[in-house]
Amino acid sequence: MNATFDFDRYDRIRPIRWTGDALELLDQRKLPFQVEYVRCGTSDEVAAAIHSLTVRGAPAIGIAAAWGVVLAGMKIEAADGAEAARKLEAPMQRLNDARPTAVNLAWALARMRRVLGAAGPDWRDVIAREAQAINDEDLAANRRMGALGAALIAPDSGVLTHCNTGSLATAGFGTALGVIRAGVAQGRIDKVYAGETRPWLQGARLTVWELQQDGIEPTLIADSAAAHLMKTGAVQWVVVGADRICANGDTANKIGTYQLAIAARHHGVRFMVAAPSSTVDMATPNGDAIHIEERDPGEMFAIGGVRTAAHDIGAWNPVFDVTPHELIDAIVTEQGVIERPDAAAMKAAFGG
Ligand code: MRU
Repeated sequence: MNATFDFDRYDRIRPIRWTGDALELLDQRKLPFQVEYVRCGTSDEVAAAIHSLTVRGAPAIGIAAAWGVVLAGMKIEAADGAEAARKLEAPMQRLNDARPTAVNLAWALARMRRVLGAAGPDWRDVIAREAQAINDEDLAANRRMGALGAALIAPDSGVLTHCNTGSLATAGFGTALGVIRAGVAQGRIDKVYAGETRPWLQGARLTVWELQQDGIEPTLIADSAAAHLMKTGAVQWVVVGADRICANGDTANKIGTYQLAIAARHHGVRFMVAAPSSTVDMATPNGDAIHIEERDPGEMFAIGGVRTAAHDIGAWNPVFDVTPHELIDAIVTEQGVIERPDAAAMKAAFGG
């Protein structure tokens, strides 16, 4: 088995590009049919892009928001960081409010606020360096997690993943998809199944496309086929990402993750959550305290603009759910692996 591998060979996509005076976002609403970057010249355009899922995935929206602060800084005059921080509070709040569930958004903005408050007259350079650092640290964390997570998987395993947790959702390489990339490269994973991820189809449109760019051939399944897949013995692990990991190990992720965890436990399939430490929120005690985003029910009525639901009906569209820590076998961050996470293990790993 090859424990090292050429990361660049498995890491070709960049969803976020900083040009020096604008942010270019790979438009994830249009993938896989059009590969097109949208240009954001203001922080409010970045906030709108986060809200509309032009850019999506917990780490990616944090990185985009950090660059949004840099863009907002270009529109104001301030003698030092403290004055700039006061003037930028309103645009930062609008970035923060773009989506509620992924803690990476608030985490990145808190980092930007912190360095801004302490900066002198060179505050513009300081925040630009911080945004770049948030991006670069995410990429490094993903590569580390890939190696740590893959090491848990026995050779010739099958895995099931949900949503999109790859390069598209991060600075690059991905979290759960990074583990899968590393596992495939090392010969530990020989079969990758991806759930469609209704209603927005992150699995069918994004994950499958992304793996194809690397020459990995995934097998797409309907979300409703997951328990049956597990029953056949085809998968040994479910590997997913996270939008917020609480102090007791409860984890929010894309709607449908919870039912995968229940089915996995029933079938003896192991369940791994891979996320950078920027997704850990020790201030939220457990999953009941997480704000679960509910989106426009209209997302349920059509696929690719073609109506698939009966007319004149209502729908409920929560886009995340919480997997209780009891159903998680391992949480993998760049700092290490937490097996059977609970409040004590989380505290030992991440402090109070
Ligand atoms: O609504 P989305 O597409 O932003 O949801 C994304 C997910 O749920 C991902 O699994 C999560 O953000 C981890 S991405 C590395």
